[in-house]
Order: sequence, then C-alpha cells, then structure tokens
Amino acid sequence: MVKVLAVLYSGGKAAQEESRLFGTIENRLGFGDWLESEGHEFIVTDDKEGPNSVFQQHIVDADILVTTPFHPAYVTKEIIAKAKNLKLAVTAGVGSDHVDLNAANERKITVAEVSGSNVVSVAEHVVMTMLVLVRNFVPAHEQIIAHDWNVAQIARNAFDIEGKTIGTIGAGRIGYRVLQRLEAFNPKELLWFDYTDLPADAAAAIKARRVDTLDELLSTCDVITVNCPLHEGTRGLIDEKAIAKMKKGAWLINTARGAIVKREAVVEALKSGHLAGYGGDVWDLQPAPKDHPWRDMRNPLGGGNAMVAHYSGTTLDAQIRYANGAKDIIKRYLAGQPQDPANVIVENGGYATRAYGQRK
Ligand code: NAI
Repeated sequence: MVKVLAVLYSGGKAAQEESRLFGTIENRLGFGDWLESEGHEFIVTDDKEGPNSVFQQHIVDADILVTTPFHPAYVTKEIIAKAKNLKLAVTAGVGSDHVDLNAANERKITVAEVSGSNVVSVAEHVVMTMLVLVRNFVPAHEQIIAHDWNVAQIARNAFDIEGKTIGTIGAGRIGYRVLQRLEAFNPKELLWFDYTDLPADAAAAIKARRVDTLDELLSTCDVITVNCPLHEGTRGLIDEKAIAKMKKGAWLINTARGAIVKREAVVEALKSGHLAGYGGDVWDLQPAPKDHPWRDMRNPLGGGNAMVAHYSGTTLDAQIRYANGAKDIIKRYLAGQPQDPANVIVENGGYATRAYGQRK
C-alpha cells in the first residue's frame, strides 16, 4: 500500500455541477476511487500554505505527491527534507518548477509531468491574448458594460496582428504551436529563440526564423510570447533591462510562469507606456494575492491588461488529458514499469530533459 497525497484546487459549486473538473479536490482527478479500490491511501487537499497545512502534515509520510501548476504545492528543499518517504512527484499538467528539482535530485526523487497534455490549450490562449491586447479588446468591452460608447477612445490604441513581427522565447511544444497558429494572421515575420534545435522537418514546416540571441528577439519584435519553463536560467529573465530593449509600445504575453518576468518591471513599463500591454495567466505567487499589482495595472490609455487566473492549460478538454496522464504515471510506478521518457523531468539524481536549463 502506498500513500498518495494530491494538492488540487477547490472547485466548490462548480465542481459539484461539472464532474469534468477533474483537477479539483471534489473530483479527485477522476481516479480517487480506483486508487482506493487498489488498497492505497489517497489524501486530497487544497490546503497548502504553512507548516500546519494539510499538505505539510501529510507530506512527511507520503510516497507519491500529485499537484497541479494551477494550485501548486511548492515543494522546496525544506519540504523535501521533511518528505522522508517521497519517491515520485507527479505534475498533473505541464511545468514542474514548483518542485525544487535540484533538491529532488539529491534525494533521487522522480519528478514527472504529463507532457503535451495541455499545450494546444495554452497555444490557443496565447493567440487569444495577443488578439485581445493588440486589438485593445478589454477596455472596449469594459466600455460596453459601463453602458458607454466611444469608438475613438478605443480605436486610438487598436491595431491588427497582420504585419507585426512576433517572436517566442522557447519553441518547444507550446511555442511551436503558437508559431503554427500565427501563420494564418500574415505577420511580417515570425521569430523564435531557443537553445534547443527544432527537428529539421518541424523547422521546415513553419515560416519562422530562428534568432541567435534573446537581445535580437527583444529588439525586433512588436509582440513577444514567453513559452519556456521556469528554471535558474529564466527566473527574472524579463527584467527592467530586457524590457528596455523591447520596442516602445510592444506587447508581452506570458503564459509560461509568472516569475520569468519581474513583477515591478512590468508594472512600471505598462505605466510609462513602454509596454502597450501585458497579458497571461501565470503569476509569481498562486493564488495571486488580492493586492497583486498585475491585477489592476494599466497603460496610460487605460488598457493593456489581459491578466486572468491560471486557467489556460486547465480547460475541460485539457483536464481529461492530464488526469488520465497522471493516472498512467502512478500506474506505471505502482507496477514497477518505466515511465514514458517524454514525461520525465528528473530521475535517478539527474535531469532527464533539456528543457529546464542548459547543463553539462
Ligand atoms: P517544452 O519542454 O516542450 O518546451 C520548452 C522549450 O523552452 C524547450 O525547447 C527549451 O529548450 C526552451 N527553453 C528553456 N529555457 C530557455 C531559455 N532560457 N531561452 C529560450 N528557450 C528556452 O515545454 P512546453 O510544453 O512548451 O511548456 C513550456 C512551459 O509552459 C512549461 O514549462 C510551463 O511552465 C508552461 N505551461 C503553462 C501552462 C498554463 O496553463 N499557463 C500549461 C502548460 C505549460
């Protein structure tokens, strides 16, 4: 018998009414009954902060931890030191930066995620956010709700995506899908920056140019989308200096991880108008505190904020995929079978993927 601890978000009334909200504590990833019928213990909670949280009480003897990036249990070095039995940390979704991967390696804990499970969901959200920002949608909609009508006030800051130069930091599963989708908008040019090559056939299949440096991407693009994992090499990557290299009036979209971008740098750049807009669904702390400045920051014309709660990768379509994927990872572990290599982030004390930073 193993003890499995899952930290998920609370679904409340929505989860009672919608059983496909698998990522909630109520619906237990859709496999709680299966796990218990196999004789295992399954603790599910959304209570994850502080030493008295259910998470910290149960992590001390859990064998497997499952958590989602949407309501992440932060598995720090200190938590790993407490988690004496932990052998497997499963991310129900994509992005395992909530685990201190180096500390997991020291203890030879396997960290696995459900690669690819929600990459289309996020790519669609990126394109949507791009449209919302560039076309100045949010203040236009707010105006209507306020029973107002002022075309010029909106149109003075509304543009087309056609003809713009658009670039992605990271051209992995999501970044590549964003490029694929943007082709249809006839941009001036699509650019990508990544230290990993695309397979030759994938590179040939899209009309996008690789740039050698981040600086070139920053200074050339009208719109930039961030699609790399959070790791030592990307934490705070987009700071004041990086934003200063961007064109005045550029738009920045980040659905990767909030901490890749420096909180105050974005607030200031939006306030000054250096950035025309910032949007995404990821925050440096989740749930975002009520007074987080990204909630109500605006550009000088009253728009430019397309922030939402972290949901781009947790559409109902995505939830079934990452719930099934997490079950498969646990099943393999219980059966002593190897994991699908595409899902493994760290294993046997080392990184199994190149996506979390360049290492020897
Ligand atoms: P992936 O592993 O397929 O691709 C990531 C790419 O980023 C790799 O090609 C890697 O070489 C590149 N990269 C890493 N560091 C870089 C750097 N410093 N500069 C440029 N490129 C760099 O991952 P995938 O599936 O595309 O996901 C990317 C990230 O998106 C995840 O790690 C996660 O943080 C985030 N994500 C967010 C979701 C949401 O709901 N908002 C859902 C799914 C993923």
